[in-house]
Parts: sequence; C-alpha cells; structure tokens
Amino acid sequence: MYYIQQDYFGKWGDVGVVDLKYEFNHILMLIASRCLLGKEVREKIFGEFYTLFTEIEEGVNLVSFMLPYIPIPVNRRRDRARIKLTEIVTEILRSRKICNRIEEDVLQKLMDSRYKDGRCTTEAAVAGMIIALIFAGKHTSAVVSTWTGACLLTHEKFLDAAFNEQKEIMRTYGDKIDYNVLLEMETLHSCIKEAGRMNPISFGLVRQAQKNIIVRTKEGVEYDIPKGDTLVNLVMLTHKLPHIYKDPKVYDPDRFRSGRDEDKVGGKFSYGTFGGGRHVCAGEAYAFMQIKIIWSHLLRNFELKLTSPFPKTDWSKYALEPKGKVMVSYKRYRVPGI
Ligand code: HEM
Repeated sequence: MYYIQQDYFGKWGDVGVVDLKYEFNHILMLIASRCLLGKEVREKIFGEFYTLFTEIEEGVNLVSFMLPYIPIPVNRRRDRARIKLTEIVTEILRSRKICNRIEEDVLQKLMDSRYKDGRCTTEAAVAGMIIALIFAGKHTSAVVSTWTGACLLTHEKFLDAAFNEQKEIMRTYGDKIDYNVLLEMETLHSCIKEAGRMNPISFGLVRQAQKNIIVRTKEGVEYDIPKGDTLVNLVMLTHKLPHIYKDPKVYDPDRFRSGRDEDKVGGKFSYGTFGGGRHVCAGEAYAFMQIKIIWSHLLRNFELKLTSPFPKTDWSKYALEPKGKVMVSYKRYRVPGI
C-alpha cells in the first residue's frame, strides 16, 4: 500500500494545483485494486476496472436508491458493469486455481475461506463480496481523506501538530512505515476522526427492532418501541449535540484525547461515522490505515494550500461528499533536518 502511494505521488510535478477529490479517488482505487483484488487487476487491467467500477458508483444515487430497477441509462450501465466485473473476478479466481497460484490479497482470503460446516465459498459469492468491499471502502475513504485535507489546510494549529508528529516519527523510524508506526500517529488519527465527525458519510444508521424494546432517555423518559419498527440514529445530528461534543461546530481533534474522550461520554453510539453495533463498519482499521499512509506522505513531502473555498456538503449524494472540486496547490519539499 505504501509503495502504491509513493509511486502515485512521485508522478506529481514539483509544483502544481490538483483537485484533492479526484486525486484521492484515483489513489484509493489503485490501493483497492492491488490490496483487495490483487496483482492481476492492478498490473494488467486497471484502466478497464476503473471505468467499470465508476459506472457502478454512478448507479448509486438517491433515484436509484428509491427505484433501483427503473430502466434508465445510468442503471443499465451499472448492471452491465456489475456483470462484466463479476466475469473478470471469476476469471482471476479460476486462473489462480488452475495454476495453483497463491497471492497475498483479500481476494485470496475470500477464496480460501470456508463456512462453519466446511463448505467452500462459491465463485459468485467471492465475486459479490469483493465488489461490495471495494464499494464500501474506496469512495468512503476518498471522501474522508478529502475532508481531512480541507479541515487541516484551514486549521493551522492542527496542521502544525500533525506535521510535528510526522517529524518526530521520522526521527525515530525514518521513512519506514509499517502498521505499528501508523498506530503511533495519534494526532493524525484524531485529525481524520474529527473530519469524519463533522462530515459523516451517512445521514443516519437504520435498524429494525427485532423485538419489543424500551428506550430510556437520560432524563428518565421511557419510549416503547414495538417489534418491527424502524429506528434511525441521525448521525449528522448526534455529532452536533452540545452535551456530547463541546462547541460541536468547531474542528477540534483534541476532543478525542484521553481525559476529554468526548466520543464516549454519550455512550457507544456517540460517534457514528463508522456506524455501530452488530453492523459496525468492518473496514474501519483498514480505512484509517490507508488514509494515514496518504496523509503522512503528503505532510512529509509537500507544502499544501487550499485554493478553493472550504467545500460545502453535497446533499444530493447517497454517500455524502464535498461538493465540487477541492483545489489545492502544492510545492514538493522534504521535512527539513531529517
Ligand atoms: C473512512 C472510510 C469508511 C467509512 C466512513 C465507512 C463507514 C461505514 C458505515 C457508516 C457503515 C454502516 C455501519 C452501520 O450500519 O452501523 C459501514 C459498513 C461497512 N463497511 Fe465501512 N466505511 C469506511 C471504510 C470501509 C472499508 C475500507 C471497508 C473494507 C475494505 C469497509 C467495509 C464495510 C463493510 C463490509 C460494512 C458492512 C458491515 C455490516 O453490515 O456488517 N468500510 N461503513
């Protein structure tokens, strides 16, 4: 993963202006194609994969969410792309099996997985799961990376703190970044987490009550929720409650530091960017890992400035994202004295 992003940013010039949203989407697609799908896609058919996957993503919007099968061009393209992607994945699975080739990627893990009763996973199930994983993880990570950039580049105090943390870590480990080094980047972690609090991807988390339940508020008021009712945790709203988050409209990554721990005071559903409970995001650790790798590389190697206004939220998208382009000017440099 680290090499993919070094290679990617290596192709930027010494100075320039880029749209962060576009760049992050691209690099996260490269990472997904290598780490989830594997060498075959990354090295041979990345262009085709990128086009097909974009067609699937374009088919996920509010209209398609309400009416998934109406025969409009965007839905037709989405369905054709899904079939073609399944064919590509199935071909890779078969070729690995025939040649007895074992790779190190998530596709291989899914291929090798077994149900509790010992049955193998089917090709269709593996193809479906891998496409779903890319869908769940690529766009979301690109969006949170972009919001992190927009927030950091407009909050000098935290940009400096994240930069100084990189300097410290480079003094100890140099350019070597592995999982344990990433875990030490606590300031960067909080900066990403806070960008996600202020700009959650989903409007809300939806669940159906599986039995009659009683909900008791902190004031002691009780509500009966009958079995079968739909419940929604409006993440956008929860993240702005002042009795949970002090000055909720202020970008303040320090609110997650030990001692304040604001994401825990209102109970385990106070922080909902990655959902919660049984269906909590399965890729949270992986998402932080990829976003931290990207931002640690940018902080170490580029001076960045946001040149477009701070982005507004695009409410027309099923997965909320920054509206329009997020333009950033960059100058290549190296953290001094290291
Ligand atoms: C910053 C990036 C990400 C964000 C903000 C995010 C957010 C979410 C949210 C809100 C949910 C719904 C949780 C719920 O209903 O309680 C979810 C579910 C899920 N996410 Fe993520 N996600 C991210 C990255 C990833 C990545 C990288 C992967 C895997 C590669 C992934 C895999 C999944 C899966 C499999 C589920 C479904 C879990 C289930 O239903 O049991 N996500 N994610």
